[in-house]
Amino acid sequence: MITSFDNAAQVLLPPQPGLRYLRGHRAGELTLDPGGLTVGEDGRIAKLHSTTDADTSIDATGCALLPGLVDCHTHLPFAGWRAQEYEQKVTGVPYEEISRAGGGIASSAQALRETPDDEVLTQATQLAAEMLAQGTTTFEGKSGYGLSRDGELRSLKLAQALDAHVAQTTTRTALLAHAVPSGYTADTWMDEVEAMLPDAAEYVDTLDIFVESIAFGLEHLDRMGTLAARYKLRLRAHVEQFSTMRSVAVALEHNARSLDHLSAIHPDDIAPLAQSETAAVLLPGAEFMGAEATAPARALIEAGAIFVLATDANPGTSPIFSLPTILGLAVRRYGLSTREALLAVTLNAAYVLDLDHEQGSIEPGKRADLVLLDSPAEHVAYRLGRTPVAAAFVAGEPVYVRPDAEWRITRR
Ligand code: NIG
Ligand code: FE
Repeated sequence: MITSFDNAAQVLLPPQPGLRYLRGHRAGELTLDPGGLTVGEDGRIAKLHSTTDADTSIDATGCALLPGLVDCHTHLPFAGWRAQEYEQKVTGVPYEEISRAGGGIASSAQALRETPDDEVLTQATQLAAEMLAQGTTTFEGKSGYGLSRDGELRSLKLAQALDAHVAQTTTRTALLAHAVPSGYTADTWMDEVEAMLPDAAEYVDTLDIFVESIAFGLEHLDRMGTLAARYKLRLRAHVEQFSTMRSVAVALEHNARSLDHLSAIHPDDIAPLAQSETAAVLLPGAEFMGAEATAPARALIEAGAIFVLATDANPGTSPIFSLPTILGLAVRRYGLSTREALLAVTLNAAYVLDLDHEQGSIEPGKRADLVLLDSPAEHVAYRLGRTPVAAAFVAGEPVYVRPDAEWRITRR
């Protein structure tokens, strides 16, 4: 089937084909000009203009056509929610108190233990559908609420099973060092992580670790980096979220694919990170919901970082699954241009997941994962809270069409 996207008001295009990423300070080279495109029988972008002999035509009049959005940092799958904890947090109960009462990561671990597989999958599938309606055509999910060997492996199995239930492309990360389970020290838990890796590695392409005063230290990050190399997995890490741990240098030594959070990054670590091929993944949802410090996004961009944004979707620090909402927060909080924001959830996010050769930009040969917005791209962040997504496409197929946009699709 040949599909033609006709007459879009804006099409987001990269300055040249074949880029693995575009450093933040070059975001202005993305173009948002009027146009169309044609998708071939193979579900790939065939040419950057429309065609009259298509089997399906999409009337994109007044619309912005973007690459499908890539959410490179979520904590799916998990069980239940922690709304009560959020209410406590915003009304002034200290985190330590919530934690002592069994809240935080431990409470999500307990919920996961007590919830049968089918219910975990049903919840995650519903959330994936919400994400699709917000333009996310690819997302990453992590383990991390298992907090035991069996729990982590079950979580990875569930994440793999989720892939068959959703329209999106999914990838999996083993966040095996998320919190220190009771009965362990950080060191003895890392021994356990090492022992479970032969099994865990079957499910994932990436390892992750939470480096924080209340979790794991630099020596554990170093050890995780060595393990990642041994199992030929990419390394990512949650770093500098609450405390300035100075973990950037250690992570760069291990060629981490990304460092995520960075709200409390030390100023001296900005340039080395920005000059590396390690992406800086900022998570404004977690900053906003958790009243964390504001990451130095502008400085990272000006220094040339591979700048990325994601939801960090999880029941604790960021129960936000909408990338348009994240863009709204990020643009205001960090002072971003529309192009900087869009780059951060398309090509650069695809690079974090090592999917940049297939996704993340509109160029001939790439898979036609696309989002059609019913507004100019500038409205995404500006009309905060509104959903601008009229339709989403995976390999050229409409996988989500908002009822009021059905008229745009004509099949012959
Ligand atoms: O990315 N920082 C650690 N992990 C998650 C939060 C997990 C939770 O609170 O459930 C994060 O913010
Ligand atoms: Fe996270």
